[in-house]
Amino acid sequence: MNPLSLYIHIPFCVSKCAYCDFVSYRIGTLEKNEGIKAYIDALKTEIQQFASILMSHEIKTIYFGGGTPSAIDGAYIHDLIDTIKSYAAISEDVEITVEINPGTLNKEKINHYLASGVNRISMGLQTTNDRLLTSIGRIHSTNDFITTYNAIREAGFRNVSLDLMFGLPGQTLGDIDKALRLVETLKPEHVSAYGLKIEEGTPLYFSYEAGKIELPDEETERMMYHNIVPGLSELGINQYELSNFAKPGYESKHNLTYWKNMPYLGFGVSSHSKINQTRTANISEIKDYVEHLIRGKSILTDSDFIDPSEDLFETIILGLRLNSGLRIMEINTKYEIDFFERYRSVLDKLRDEQLIELGEEEVKLTDLGRDLANQVFLQFMMDM
Ligand SMILES: C[S@@+](CC[C@H](N)C(=O)[O-])C[C@H]1O[C@@H](n2cnc3c(N)ncnc32)[C@H](O)[C@@H]1O
Ligand code: SF4
Repeated sequence: MNPLSLYIHIPFCVSKCAYCDFVSYRIGTLEKNEGIKAYIDALKTEIQQFASILMSHEIKTIYFGGGTPSAIDGAYIHDLIDTIKSYAAISEDVEITVEINPGTLNKEKINHYLASGVNRISMGLQTTNDRLLTSIGRIHSTNDFITTYNAIREAGFRNVSLDLMFGLPGQTLGDIDKALRLVETLKPEHVSAYGLKIEEGTPLYFSYEAGKIELPDEETERMMYHNIVPGLSELGINQYELSNFAKPGYESKHNLTYWKNMPYLGFGVSSHSKINQTRTANISEIKDYVEHLIRGKSILTDSDFIDPSEDLFETIILGLRLNSGLRIMEINTKYEIDFFERYRSVLDKLRDEQLIELGEEEVKLTDLGRDLANQVFLQFMMDM
């Protein structure tokens, strides 16, 4: 059976962080339980609609992302996993991840996660500077984070990931070092480190536009990244993707699905799917999502056929994000091309600029290439 990954979007947060434009609703703004229950019922209806696809694939990963999946009762996550299991052939070594936020977890939730087979936890820390945490709208302090992390470990979770951010307003290189020291103490298996993106329409965007906040300059932001990469490596947490780091064997199987351009189904508001040469996107308004599913109406806003040349381009730019790079034999077989012949001129140019390394069987970004990854992607795009 062909492998398949599943993403389930849980669009609820206790409050919205200033930088975040993920589709999520403040829990207090919904008619609390009814709103959440109606959404979970709608998700179950959507999952059921995919029963035949689920039955004919081997489910390798299930990822509950958000929003904040840990903001809702653990029984809902348990129920959704049971629903998926009732239709799907689940791989024996399935990876089931739940994103959690410090300050939203309790024993009841942990017990439901364990009982339903959740085996990976992803936690948002962002920074260990408490003043900065408050200023970006996080609901927790560093100590709250540590308490939640310890509870997760005590419950027996052996695969835990932390999210860090760099380039935050007022953040210093000293803050990055402190965050690395906490990573050293906590010993997570996986770390994601994201450079702040100012997303249009967020409170941070308006503060930035109004000149009310100052961001670290570009050089400092780059230095932060350049401290994070070797800093984590010294702790045995090695970079395997532009923003992701893991101890050997703990790379996120779910995210590898995206970077390897493999099929996935996304359920819930604003989720995307890519399967059978088709990419689809769900509507991003929760009310419409729930009502459409109750009425049997389509919840898609987009559905596009992906032609082979577009798929090849995606395979290239996603695969180059990985430190292991592109596997040329696999690409040649899948797309029936001679990759080196097809991209001869762009490959020569990028190699001369020391942005890529050309091996016999693989093509990888150099360290400089990782810094200038967008330029590399652009060169391939112009040669599409
Ligand atoms: C869906 S959120 C994580 C889950 C959880 N709600 C939390 O905040 O801890 C995924 C991660 O994306 C990152 N992120 C969100 N918005 C970002 C932005 N504008 N720029 C950079 N990273 C961002 C944060 O590190 C965040 O933890
Ligand atoms: S970063 Fe996480 S907690 Fe904050 S608003 Fe976004 S999804 Fe919610």
